Amino acid sequence: MKFLWTVTSCAWAVHAGALRACGTCCTRLQRELGSKVSSPGQPAYNATEDSYWSLQEAGLRPGCILRPSTAQDVARAVSIIGTVDGCNFAIKGQGHAPAAGFANIDGGVTIDMTGLNSTVLNADQSVVSVGAGASWLRVYQYLDPFNVSVAGGRNGLVGVGGLTVGGGISHFSPRVGWACDNVVNFERGAVFQAFTDIVSSPDFDIYTSLVAGFLYNSTSKTWLISNSAVYTRPVLDPPVFAELAAVPSISNSSQLTSLAALADEAATPPLNWLFATATFKPSVEFMQEIFDILNSTFYSFNPEGGVVWDIAFEPLPSVMLSYAAKTGGNILGVQPEDGNSYIMLLSALWPNSASNAAVEKVSRQALAAIEARAKAEGLLRGFQYLNYAAPYQTPLASYGAENLEFLREVRRKYDPLQVFQKRVPGGFKL
Ligand SMILES: Cc1cc2nc3c(=O)[nH]c(=O)nc-3n(C[C@H](O)[C@H](O)[C@H](O)COP(=O)(O)OP(=O)(O)OC[C@H]3O[C@@H](n4cnc5c(N)ncnc54)[C@H](O)[C@@H]3O)c2cc1C
Ligand SMILES: *[C@@H]1O[C@H](CO)[C@@H](O)[C@H](O)[C@H]1NC(C)=O
Ligand SMILES: *[C@@H]1O[C@H](CO)[C@@H](O)[C@H](O)[C@H]1NC(C)=O
Ligand SMILES: *[C@@H]1O[C@H](CO)[C@@H](O)[C@H](O)[C@H]1NC(C)=O
Ligand SMILES: *[C@@H]1O[C@H](CO)[C@@H](O)[C@H](O)[C@H]1NC(C)=O
Ligand SMILES: *[C@@H]1O[C@H](CO)[C@@H](O)[C@H](O)[C@H]1NC(C)=O
Ligand SMILES: *[C@@H]1O[C@H](CO)[C@@H](O)[C@H](O)[C@H]1NC(C)=O
Repeated sequence: MKFLWTVTSCAWAVHAGALRACGTCCTRLQRELGSKVSSPGQPAYNATEDSYWSLQEAGLRPGCILRPSTAQDVARAVSIIGTVDGCNFAIKGQGHAPAAGFANIDGGVTIDMTGLNSTVLNADQSVVSVGAGASWLRVYQYLDPFNVSVAGGRNGLVGVGGLTVGGGISHFSPRVGWACDNVVNFERGAVFQAFTDIVSSPDFDIYTSLVAGFLYNSTSKTWLISNSAVYTRPVLDPPVFAELAAVPSISNSSQLTSLAALADEAATPPLNWLFATATFKPSVEFMQEIFDILNSTFYSFNPEGGVVWDIAFEPLPSVMLSYAAKTGGNILGVQPEDGNSYIMLLSALWPNSASNAAVEKVSRQALAAIEARAKAEGLLRGFQYLNYAAPYQTPLASYGAENLEFLREVRRKYDPLQVFQKRVPGGFKL
């Protein structure tokens, strides 16, 4: 039945090739995305058709309409569409572009983005993260109780996606510019913001285990975001991750699981690896600077066999440092009074051992540039986490002069012949 409808609607397409393509395309989408895909005559199909602002646009008849509910749905749909020759598609926000064909299509696929409408304000109320399919009215209604607003459409029925991509003239524009000038970032910046909000919260949620990661592939010259957000209580969608989950490009693979299942990661293939580390005070702007330094350092570097850079940011919240006192303290030299920080782990992985020296050199350059910037801006913490430190770093000295002296006293007492200092060449020495 569904298939028949699809074929009927495809009769709108002019030639046989398009007809075949459209049938195949909609059938495949239906198979993969189920009820998120609707066909002519179905209520969901009509709802989208009836939501266009202009009659010309509403008059077009796509073969099927997809209403994605996650960014992952969009990615899957686009990859399916990409594999079917002659399968064309349109993207619809709130449907306010009047010209026929801008956000609808005859005989192809229309992707109606309006389900991607999550709206979340960050902790210090400086940034709102909005799904690409939202309407401005809903955004304003959400923000009103907080007494804050945002530069968006004057007519609330207009879409966030279309207005912002085109520029966007707001009531506030004489004060703040085009709506698009006020977009902090379409996705990557939103991750930095969400991470910084979590890290800098004075009430850091102790059930939060978070790693925000960025990978750069020197062969494809592409960056990829890869976050791991774990909550150590059986709660799906805890509020602490709401801002991160609202970043449109982040797909949700949330599940409740056991620690054993979670820790049972696939072993990595044999590769060369390196680690290096630094610790910083929270700052969204500085995370962006780190990213820019890494990108400009790595961009032109592509050793034979390629290298993947994996940069991970992990919270080092004050509360995590407060437990040491209960068991007599530790030697690491970081104190709860220092406030919340985060640790950067810079890793590289590469197959070709002939590139070792070159990769190490570039990683060192990147780390030095980042540390210099952080120092200049007063954001560098002295702490170097030993398990992430490169051989040329000095994590033991980073514990502070007093702690280092204490370790040396212990050495003098228990290892007077310096067996562990001199006969064990690996690792960090006192
Ligand atoms: C009544 C009315 C009032 C308006 N008021 C204002 C105003 O105050 N200020 C102003 O600057 N403009 C205004 N406009 C113009 C408006 O900005 C544009 O029409 C805008 O393109 C509408 O966006 P939309 O998402 O509603 O429309 P749609 O027709 O759904 O989309 C418009 C275009 O953007 C593309 N698009 C939409 N979402 C995405 C996405 N997520 N990814 C990629 N592409 C996407 C679509 O493919 C389409 O080509 C107004 C228009 C109308 C009809
Ligand atoms: C959808 O709209 C068509 C007219 O365009 C109408 O014939 C049909 O009954 C509608 N279907 C539903 C389920 O409302
Ligand atoms: C998002 O869209 C759904 C379905 O159209 C709607 O019910 C909901 O109110 C919208 N939420 C926001 C915040 O706009
Ligand atoms: C918003 O402003 C109004 C009017 O000034 C005030 O009554 C209200 O308490 C404010 N709300 C918040 C959340 O600050
Ligand atoms: C890097 O990109 C290249 C080219 O796209 C690809 O072949 C390779 O598998 C990627 N490497 C990794 C580790 O993802
Ligand atoms: C994420 O997926 C889980 C399980 O599939 C679901 O229960 C949860 O509501 C989803 N969360 C969001 C924010 O979409
Ligand atoms: C990385 O740097 C290159 C070269 O300067 C630039 O073209 C590219 O846009 C940058 N990428 C990002 C994601 O900033």
